[in-house]
Amino acid sequence: MRFIFALAALAATAAAAPWANWGVSHGLNYPRTTSNCMSDSDATKVANNFKTLIAAYSDSFSNKTMAVDFVDYSDSVMELINGGCEGPEVLGTAVFSSRAEFQAGQGAQPPIPFEIIKTWNACSAVTIRWQSAQTPQLVTGIIVIEVVKNADKKASQKWLIKTVYSEFNSGAWLVNLDVFNPPVCPAPPPPTSTPSRRMLFV
Ligand SMILES: *[C@@H]1O[C@H](CO)[C@@H](O)[C@H](O)[C@H]1NC(C)=O
Repeated sequence: MRFIFALAALAATAAAAPWANWGVSHGLNYPRTTSNCMSDSDATKVANNFKTLIAAYSDSFSNKTMAVDFVDYSDSVMELINGGCEGPEVLGTAVFSSRAEFQAGQGAQPPIPFEIIKTWNACSAVTIRWQSAQTPQLVTGIIVIEVVKNADKKASQKWLIKTVYSEFNSGAWLVNLDVFNPPVCPAPPPPTSTPSRRMLFV
């Protein structure tokens, strides 16, 4: 009982706090009001900046939109680099530990098709669900992008991309790269059939 009262007291405190206008009780897309939070349009801009970095990369745009101490975590990317082998990349560690490293890696890539399907805006992060229209297999992924406020008040970008957590269907991507080439595949189901229960690991 005392536990419930303690929770109720906590909830009352939260309701009175200035940041009560955003957060769990109102859903993540509720407008944020404090000056230390991204607005919805700020978050949309950051999401679109990330898309540009993937789909139409340039060093100058990267310099404008990313923090110098940018870090990128993605075991999906590590798996692509490793081609399904145990190395050279170590799973669970950062792919890129600075903006300069990202520029060296991303700048060497051909442009990648990248469409944003949905975004979820939070105070200091925006989450993106995205798809890359590759063939033969569509690649879908989710990215959480954390931002920091740009110290340069006169810059075109108020928020800089600081840390990225990105995972996606690297299995499909490895098939598209012809790195993973399954020796035998069952015939694809006819488009009108009802999906049967998927059996894993058999
Ligand atoms: C990007 O910034 C780096 C310094 O971080 C600088 O050396 C480089 O020339 C800049 N590139 C462009 C195209 O602005």
